Amino acid sequence: MVKIAPSILSADFANLAAEVEDVRLGGADWLHFDVMDGIFVPNISIGIPVLKSLRKATEMFLDVHLMITKPHRYVEAFCEAGADLVVFHLEADEPQDLMEAIQKVKSLGKKVGLTIKPRTPASTLLPYLKMLDLVLVMTVEPGFGGQSFMYEQLPKIAELRGYLDQYNPECLLEVDGGVDKKTAPLLKEAGVDVLVAGSAVFGEKDRRAAIEAIRNS
Ligand code: DX5
Ligand code: ZN
Repeated sequence: MVKIAPSILSADFANLAAEVEDVRLGGADWLHFDVMDGIFVPNISIGIPVLKSLRKATEMFLDVHLMITKPHRYVEAFCEAGADLVVFHLEADEPQDLMEAIQKVKSLGKKVGLTIKPRTPASTLLPYLKMLDLVLVMTVEPGFGGQSFMYEQLPKIAELRGYLDQYNPECLLEVDGGVDKKTAPLLKEAGVDVLVAGSAVFGEKDRRAAIEAIRNS
C-alpha cells in the first residue's frame, strides 16, 4: 500500500507537536520535513534545531528533504538531529560529494535518497541508483507548498519506475509537490511508493479524512 508522508511545511509551526500527533492519529505513515536555505531554492524554512525538537516529540519516521546547496556539508548533522531518511538534490552538489554524502548517511545507519527538480532528466540518477534507499521526483519547482502538480512529470516518473525495477527494486519511489486526491490516483497507477502531501493534508481541518482521501482515491 502507498505510504502517505504529510509535509509539515504546511503545518502550524507554533503547535508543531500537536499537528504531528494529529496526522499520526489520522493514519500518516511518515512525516516529511522540508529544509530550505534561501540559495538552492528562493525560500527559507526550518533546520537542525527544529528537527531535534521534533525527534523528541514523536517516534514517527522522519523523511528529511534537504533543499540546500552543497548538502554533503550537513548530512551528518541532520542524521544526528534525528532524521530516519535524508534526501538531497542531485543538482546541489558535485558527483564526488554526492557519493560521499550517500556513504556518510549509510555509515550512520540512516536511509538515504536523492531527488531531482522538474527540469532534471531521470537518467541523471542512474549512476547512484544502486546505492539509494529512495528516489524522490519533484512535481513542482521546489521552494513552496501549495503549487499545482506538473502533469508533464508523469513520463519521468514512469521512466524511473522502470529503472528501479531493473536496477534496484528495493529502492522506494517518492513524489513531492501538488499531490492531492485528484493527482494521487495517477501516481499510484505509475507505481509510486510514497506520496508527500503538504497543503492537501495540513490545509484541511479533518486530517484523517484528508489522508484517507489521498490513500483511497
Ligand atoms: C516544496 C516542498 C514540498 C511541499 C509540498 O518545495 O518540497 O514538500 O511541502 O507541498 P504541497 O503538497 O502543498 O505541494
Ligand atoms: Zn519536500
